Amino acid sequence: MDIKKQELKYVTELLNITKKMLSAFNLEKLLKQILDASLELLKADSGSLMLIEENSKTLKIKAARGLSEEVCAKVEVNLGEHVSGWVAKEGKPLLLVGGLKNDSRFSHLDEKKSIKSSICVPLIVEKRVIGVLNLNNTVSDNLFSEPDLGLLSLLANQAAISIWSVRLYEETKKANEEIRLMQKKLVEKEKMAALGQFSAGIAHEINNPLTTIIGNAQYLMEHMHKGDFGWEEINDVKEAAQLSSRIIARLFKYCSPLEKKEEAVDVNDSIRQVVELAKNNFTKQGIKIDLGLDSNVKNVIVGLDEFREVIFNVIFNAKAAMPAGGTLTIKTKMAGTQDMAEVLISDTGRGIPANVIDNIFIPFFSTRKPQGLGLGLAVCKHIVDLHNGTIEVESRFGKGTTFIIKLPVYK
Ligand SMILES: Nc1ncnc2c1ncn2[C@@H]1O[C@H](COP(=O)(O)OP(=O)(O)O)[C@@H](O)[C@H]1O
Ligand SMILES: [Mg+2]
Repeated sequence: MDIKKQELKYVTELLNITKKMLSAFNLEKLLKQILDASLELLKADSGSLMLIEENSKTLKIKAARGLSEEVCAKVEVNLGEHVSGWVAKEGKPLLLVGGLKNDSRFSHLDEKKSIKSSICVPLIVEKRVIGVLNLNNTVSDNLFSEPDLGLLSLLANQAAISIWSVRLYEETKKANEEIRLMQKKLVEKEKMAALGQFSAGIAHEINNPLTTIIGNAQYLMEHMHKGDFGWEEINDVKEAAQLSSRIIARLFKYCSPLEKKEEAVDVNDSIRQVVELAKNNFTKQGIKIDLGLDSNVKNVIVGLDEFREVIFNVIFNAKAAMPAGGTLTIKTKMAGTQDMAEVLISDTGRGIPANVIDNIFIPFFSTRKPQGLGLGLAVCKHIVDLHNGTIEVESRFGKGTTFIIKLPVYK
């Protein structure tokens, strides 16, 4: 091919590569694309793209060909050190023919592979080096030349700008996401505060008439016998009024701001106490309770009442999921790097369908209306989140459900 044709071919290829780079939105993909295009353009058999880490100011491999993943993860080059470090520090391209030994600057370095020729160019944006592009020929006799260096430098200029803009794009996207999340939390907090005031008002207004209804129903029932005319109906009136009263009380409780507590709570003891209180309810429904409490579990930081409430809510949900009996298992153990205690509460109940599972922690979500208020798990999550813990669920529809609660240990 004559020189003009060859140049035209290079220019066309460069333009094509540039076009591709400009349409990238994902940094990892872009870096691989840049390396692949450079290898292809210069017919090199191996190479790497390294970027300078913001914090450590060292070069790390971000895309490579001809190097194992292990090596890529391990390599960390200081500025000024080795060939890549030299290029990054000086901000100048480098052409090496016949390996490192031929260049006095690098002749003291050991070569891992027999490199016939290599080429390394800096990636520069606004006069700042952000990384280097490194190409090698280990096998072919096609040695790199000065024009190759020029060509790769051109590509590197474009590549650096693309990397910069994709990074900016990713950072902006992340910042936007954070702002959106903060706004959502703020709106949620304001909503809860408004709801709190509103429900306190309602609770006050409605509790008085409810007390009258319940009191009068009870008074009438005291003067009647079960089976008398009207007894069932008055009992229904009383129970409905009591339910309304409970709903209002829980609503009020949910909406009032929860405080973060820093008590040292004995996980196993608290679970035993809650189970002791609830035991009869479970036995009556044919549910066996299995406790596997690990004595190595340390105290956690939470409020005692709040912790009991979490356990209470989760085990009563389990009870509701096993109307025909089953087994409730509660296990405890240390988790993470021994800095969290974990409670696993499993049932052999109906399980949670896939289309429901994402909603169970949302306030007022319930598949058990009208008895279910849908606040139990929302309250649990609220308590656990507030104390830097987590609550997760695993369920197999028709087989059973496990709730996993983790809380930080008290030090
Ligand atoms: N152990 C469980 N097995 C099956 N479904 C469950 C279990 N625990 C919770 N759920 C589902 O999560 C929903 C929300 O639970 P919760 O917030 O406690 O509200 P509620 O108990 O008032 O319905 C329940 O209605 C139920 O559909
Ligand atoms: Mg519940």
